[in-house]
Amino acid sequence: MTLEQAISVLEKAGIESARFEAQLLLGLAAAVSRTQIIAQTYPPLTPGQTHRFIQLVLERRNRVPLAYLRGTQEFYGLTFAVGEEVLIPRPETELLVDFAREKLNAHKTPPLLADVGTGSGCIVISVLKHLPTATAVATDLSANALTLARRNAQANEVAHRIDWVRTNLLEGITSKFDAILSNPPYISTQEVATLQPEVKDNEPLLALDGGEDGLAVVRPLIESAFHALKRGGYFAMEGAKEQAPDIMMLFKQAGFQEVGTKNDLAGIERVIFGRKP
Ligand SMILES: C[S@@+](CC[C@H](N)C(=O)[O-])C[C@H]1O[C@@H](n2cnc3c(N)ncnc32)[C@H](O)[C@@H]1O
Repeated sequence: MTLEQAISVLEKAGIESARFEAQLLLGLAAAVSRTQIIAQTYPPLTPGQTHRFIQLVLERRNRVPLAYLRGTQEFYGLTFAVGEEVLIPRPETELLVDFAREKLNAHKTPPLLADVGTGSGCIVISVLKHLPTATAVATDLSANALTLARRNAQANEVAHRIDWVRTNLLEGITSKFDAILSNPPYISTQEVATLQPEVKDNEPLLALDGGEDGLAVVRPLIESAFHALKRGGYFAMEGAKEQAPDIMMLFKQAGFQEVGTKNDLAGIERVIFGRKP
């Protein structure tokens, strides 16, 4: 398969940046950069590399996300291994990392934080990278996600500061935290079915599906976060467009004070936070 043929296959599959993606896939198969592909300064592909290129193009035609094909995703300036067992880290989730850094940077004692539904580990690993004295507990229901997150922590040299626990939310964890962060599944079941094929057919349903109104995991999460925080501790979580008013209400009902939101670059109230009095 030539590059032009690959572009045509991807275009026919409705992939917007077909040329860009085909170049990336060819670079992946040939183990060279996209710049080399554009400049045509790469050696001829071996039969094995050609086979791999065809495979990659066909998978992408079937709407497998590019990040899964590459096996990595950038988040907060770091590189994370990703696979179909975890959600691909999204740029808006970086807001949670900013929040934790802002609140814990000048903390008097080494802070202890929790990341609920850690997935690839992108949130907790990025925070710990920037808070050298902090330690953390990261939970997930998915054992495979925890295995990958641990690998990511090792690659980013913070593994010795994180405890990984396979549990529902924070069940069975007795520590009290200075901050709890979470990007839970918050998309309503009905809406999941309308998402683009890359997401609904490839990313784990456990990472996306928030039940009938999108808040099935969020409700118990807010309650358990409140109980697991130290006095004065912060809880911050990500939510969907237009969920912020309902989530803020749930925060207040649980007993949180100083409840507020942070907007993402699209102006959506993306992070909801509160403080335990
Ligand atoms: C939206 S993904 C977020 C992953 C990662 N934190 C990120 O921001 O990219 C939600 C994660 O929560 C996990 N999860 C879903 N329900 C859970 C529960 N009840 N308790 C713990 N983890 C849960 C999923 O397996 C998934 O890894």
